[in-house]
Amino acid sequence: MSGNTNKIFIVECGGKLQGNIRVPGDKSISHRSIMLGSLATGTTKVSGFLEGEDNHATLNAFRAMGVTIDHHGNGELTIHGVGLDGLKQPDGPLDLGNSGTSMRLMAGIAAGQNFSLTLTGDASLNTRPMRRVTDPLTEMGADISTGEGGTPPIKVKASGQLKALTYQLPMASAQVKSCVLLAGMYAKGQTCVTEPAPTRDHTERMLSGFGYPVSRDGRTACLDGGGALQAMDIDVPADISSATFYMVGASIAKGSDITLENVGINPTRDGVINILRLMGADIELLNPREICGEPVADIRVKSAELNGIDIPVEQVPLAIDEFPAIFVAAACAKGTTVLTGAEELRVKESDRIQAMADGLQILGVDAKPTADGIVIQGGTIGSGRVDSLGDHRIAMSFVMAGLRASGRIEIEDCANVDTSFPNFVELAQKSGISVSDN
Ligand code: S3P
Repeated sequence: MSGNTNKIFIVECGGKLQGNIRVPGDKSISHRSIMLGSLATGTTKVSGFLEGEDNHATLNAFRAMGVTIDHHGNGELTIHGVGLDGLKQPDGPLDLGNSGTSMRLMAGIAAGQNFSLTLTGDASLNTRPMRRVTDPLTEMGADISTGEGGTPPIKVKASGQLKALTYQLPMASAQVKSCVLLAGMYAKGQTCVTEPAPTRDHTERMLSGFGYPVSRDGRTACLDGGGALQAMDIDVPADISSATFYMVGASIAKGSDITLENVGINPTRDGVINILRLMGADIELLNPREICGEPVADIRVKSAELNGIDIPVEQVPLAIDEFPAIFVAAACAKGTTVLTGAEELRVKESDRIQAMADGLQILGVDAKPTADGIVIQGGTIGSGRVDSLGDHRIAMSFVMAGLRASGRIEIEDCANVDTSFPNFVELAQKSGISVSDN
């Protein structure tokens, strides 16, 4: 993985965003397309797949478990599904790089196999909490362990038939919900997961698309074990989390007018639109449509005067990956922005509250971290050298800060931008940002 190389982004200040762009495919949906396509009966064709390192980690892991996946390049794949019980034991541990989604969802699938498996990752992933998935899987009868402190590697031993589980999620996490539901396909009886707040529902939508019924009652999703997945074709929409950088950039850079094409606007992912609109952003959803069971639209964003707000707590899980960029919007807004209820940000690819507070402070912004959020006074953004800590979303957020900075911003440790947005620099340059990498 590229996280070991200290790639530096250099952003010259100023500029505005213009034109029509298409950001790469949705990371969450791309992971799930490989997983469910592999476990289906028949051939699944995927287009718009995100060619990022995280998704390649999932792809390589399923190939290592005996699935034939033809990779035609440019987001086109053909997956020759092996059925729910057709995976084979890989030769060694599966290295999932920087990808928490791969590890947590695959733990659920691994628990249902009749072979043993070890899941590991890079330096960042190997510090992230995994008991949140191994605890419910243990309750289902899996023989599964983490390293000391509840971090990877996850080791799963073949343990026979899983038991169904009725599970109350302790935190709003789509990864944990998905892990339990995927394990539930291998369990005897009905598995139900209740979430404390709505989280992204791509797993439930895609399972239904593959012909595996998932019922929903309020915050509870249930499925019966012992079903089967039938192959389907998947057209992955552009990732709203990647579009977010451009939504924030266009909002804060005067004279901007940009249209982001074919973006997924699933209501469990649209918190960023709601939050930016509450701040006064000028965002229009054009040509709303549905593609493969997912709502999609073109998003037009024009620059606007933003105001600080208290971010509604119910929006937090719906915008969980978008906060680093939202903090940059807050730094450019009039007044104070307060985020609470977002302690999950501390266990992402980096501690995103601390990483953003540190970087914003270096740039002269009054940003005070709290246990579960941050308080940001809008004002001016200065210049300086900040550290992304190898976190793709921190790196891209500070690139957008350059649009309103008083001087050059240098951003360290940016190689992991390739985990989710491989052509970020090229697209940023094309749309009006003066950024280079070296
Ligand atoms: C994801 C869920 C979220 C998100 C991650 C992708 C998914 O994580 O942060 O980038 O694809 O299910 P949590 O479930 O830990 O909130």
